[in-house]
Amino acid sequence: MVHIRVDGTAYEVREGLTLLQALDDLGVLMKGVDIPHYCWHPKLSIDGSCRMCQVEVEGMPKLQIACGTPVRDGMIIHTRSERALAAREGVMELLLVNHPLDCPICDQAGECKLQDYAFEYGQAHSRTREPRRALKKRVELGSTIILDQERCILCRRCVRFCREVSATNELAVTQRGDRSTIETFPGKPLENDYSMNVADLCPVGALTTRDFRFKTRVWSLEEVPGICTGCSRGCNVHVGVVDHEVRRYTPRRNDEVNGTWLCDQGRMTYREIGAPDRITEPAVRGNSGQLVGATLDRAIGRAVELIREAVQKEGPGVVAALASAHATNEDLAALRGLLRALGSETHAAPVLTGSSDALLVRPEKAANAEGARVAGFGEPGLLFDKIRGGGVRVLIVLGHDVIHEQFLGTPEPLAALDGVILLDTHRSRLEQVADVVIPGRHLAEKGGSVTNHAGLVQAVPAALEPTFEAIAEAQVLARFADALDVSLTDEPERKREVD
Ligand code: SF4
Ligand code: SF4
Ligand code: FES
Repeated sequence: MVHIRVDGTAYEVREGLTLLQALDDLGVLMKGVDIPHYCWHPKLSIDGSCRMCQVEVEGMPKLQIACGTPVRDGMIIHTRSERALAAREGVMELLLVNHPLDCPICDQAGECKLQDYAFEYGQAHSRTREPRRALKKRVELGSTIILDQERCILCRRCVRFCREVSATNELAVTQRGDRSTIETFPGKPLENDYSMNVADLCPVGALTTRDFRFKTRVWSLEEVPGICTGCSRGCNVHVGVVDHEVRRYTPRRNDEVNGTWLCDQGRMTYREIGAPDRITEPAVRGNSGQLVGATLDRAIGRAVELIREAVQKEGPGVVAALASAHATNEDLAALRGLLRALGSETHAAPVLTGSSDALLVRPEKAANAEGARVAGFGEPGLLFDKIRGGGVRVLIVLGHDVIHEQFLGTPEPLAALDGVILLDTHRSRLEQVADVVIPGRHLAEKGGSVTNHAGLVQAVPAALEPTFEAIAEAQVLARFADALDVSLTDEPERKREVD
């Protein structure tokens, strides 16, 4: 460790880091120690090209770039000295010489570093009369990203991302001096599984995602912490909400989980929340054999009837549950509690699997696959056998992963049951055999905790209310328990322990 002093405050930092890295490591960069920077990013190599991070270091005649200057014991740094501020003003003036200043029609306005620093270090008037550089305004770099070359400040974050993180090398700076532009290599569009991260990295409005651009002004967005449910990595996201609608996921930094990245596929899972195939009202199978819309009370009442009848007729062991690995730990605890209270231990959680990579994407395609295992919901094979053998009469199903080809493939095996009680967020063929359907809430609508592949339990708040009437699955199960006059909290065992 070495000791440094920044603007009069003493810090102990790790040796071998540069000043920006050390401050980031301490968690004070831009949270107490504000050193503006464009090209530096905590997860990319050091470029040292923008010169915005210049600071004064006692004993060094020239200003130093904080991103590239290693800390030394006894170093005394001034981040807001007159010379440092004047240097930043100079950098801003040069960056703005050719900038189109089209903030009113720029999608980055409101979260743009050029705007922020121009406000802080820029001048009110331009000293140039020469025409600004005219470059291409809408370049499709690939299927996800649009480039506005005029807005680019050539920080090369996007180039380094493609070189160092996705390792796909699609982008480069071509030409020299003020003719420099970002381009894709001929015949090699920006197409990789992480392509949209370059829009998050771009400090200005040069790179925007085709998905989000011009959909919403960012100052209308409420950003709430959330978790991507695309796989068992559990990447941390900001859920961007406007008018009860999720408009985007952007990465929320968590060095233990996803660093500062998201895969494109996971990023787009926000669309599931407002998808047209959401289940929006409860339903009960009527005398005609059709599912008929019902109140939540009626649906819960019918579900309870089915459970009670089965237990009275054939004993508690005939009630079973197929949980979803998308369910929260709270939902799973409620489900397990209900089964235990009924005297049944027959439960499982089908977890879909798919492709993975060495960066983030995990093979298990549900956020809480590990949480389900920890809660005792294992592979569904034995439960399927028990269903086929007639040992299950009523099945409570959370989610519809079980209908996937990797598991049942068809709802047929469940058709012979006396009761299928479905708590789900999205429509599926399971409705063909369900006797009761109750709408569920997405993680972003209910909050709660999920356990990622490495065993890390992560909790998030609800980001929005659904636009239809639905309560969290754990609450539905609690209402089942109330109506059945049992407790979800494994009370008998706890009481025994206390006794
Ligand atoms: S496009 Fe954005 S990220 Fe890429 S070099 Fe230009 S300003 Fe930097
Ligand atoms: S790696 Fe998994 S958790 Fe992360 S963004 Fe992709 S799908 Fe979501
Ligand atoms: S952030 Fe240091 S030179 Fe760009």
